[in-house]
Amino acid sequence: MMLNRPRRNRKSEAIRQMLCETRLDVAHLVYPLFIVDGNGIQDEIKSMPGNYRWSLDLILKEIDSCIALGIQQYVLFPAVKEHLKDSIASYSYSNDNFYLHAINKIKTTFPQITLISDVAMDPYSSDGHDGFVSNAKIENDASLPILSKMAIAQAQAGIDMIGPSDMMDGRVAYLREDLDKAGFMDTSIISYTAKYASAYYGPFRDALDSAPKAGDKKTYQMNPANKMEALREAELDTMEGADILMVKPATLYLDVIQLLKQNSHLPIAAYNVSGECSMLMAAAQKGYLDYEAAMQEMLISIARAGADIILTYFAKDYAGLIKG
Ligand code: PBG
Repeated sequence: MMLNRPRRNRKSEAIRQMLCETRLDVAHLVYPLFIVDGNGIQDEIKSMPGNYRWSLDLILKEIDSCIALGIQQYVLFPAVKEHLKDSIASYSYSNDNFYLHAINKIKTTFPQITLISDVAMDPYSSDGHDGFVSNAKIENDASLPILSKMAIAQAQAGIDMIGPSDMMDGRVAYLREDLDKAGFMDTSIISYTAKYASAYYGPFRDALDSAPKAGDKKTYQMNPANKMEALREAELDTMEGADILMVKPATLYLDVIQLLKQNSHLPIAAYNVSGECSMLMAAAQKGYLDYEAAMQEMLISIARAGADIILTYFAKDYAGLIKG
């Protein structure tokens, strides 16, 4: 006799569904989209098959079709032309910035959706760093007023949540205070709290042509070997007024997601980054992995670790699959 047969709880699809511990609803997904200035552009990103740089006219159509699949949350990244970049990222808060105009147009066309921005200097910086560079050093405190101008410009354009991804110290409090002073007390902050210095951002930097011109991001992004430090970052962002804490990347950092979920009362987001998505895509294209099954397993692992929200390039395909 065998008293315990765990397989009894797996014997039919109905029982497996009844006993399923983690479900992932499309409402928890955020779809990252890349936007470029111009018209009629749908430019595929080489290292991110199935992902494009869209011009505003076509991104509106894309968002419309994603809304039909149930996707309500989007994070937008601008691909900025090289000649508009400078050392102080001035284009990020310029009146002519196509990204700000696009935010405004998307929000007025689809007022019900949530739009999240990226706050960091790298897409606009001639140095390709998230903060201000002086004598080969990324200057923390000198970066804060620049990030603040960027965040306020995005709030004015109608963004729902700003997403500081820059990893400068003290930026959440700095941005919160300036947003409030400017009357944007309802603009949320989804903070990139535990953002690691990861090789898996490579395809994203191809998409925006935003790789650092010199050096790396290790003096501001976290060491992949560290976990306790994530708690320190979480404590600071919480005290500084963040609404949501984020871990990035996701699947290689499931332990960090779990740690923050168990130690914070704030919602936890996880960013399933470009490299995680691209390696799965590449394996699927070669026929080494089943795309749909591998993608669903990747996403459920992030939810199981404790993420309330998942930013993922798989959002559209996942939503399509769920819808059937
Ligand atoms: C910019 C930023 C990066 C990502 C999101 N915001 C790149 C970086 O920090 O170098 C990466 C996202 C991805 O790889 O999908 N600060």
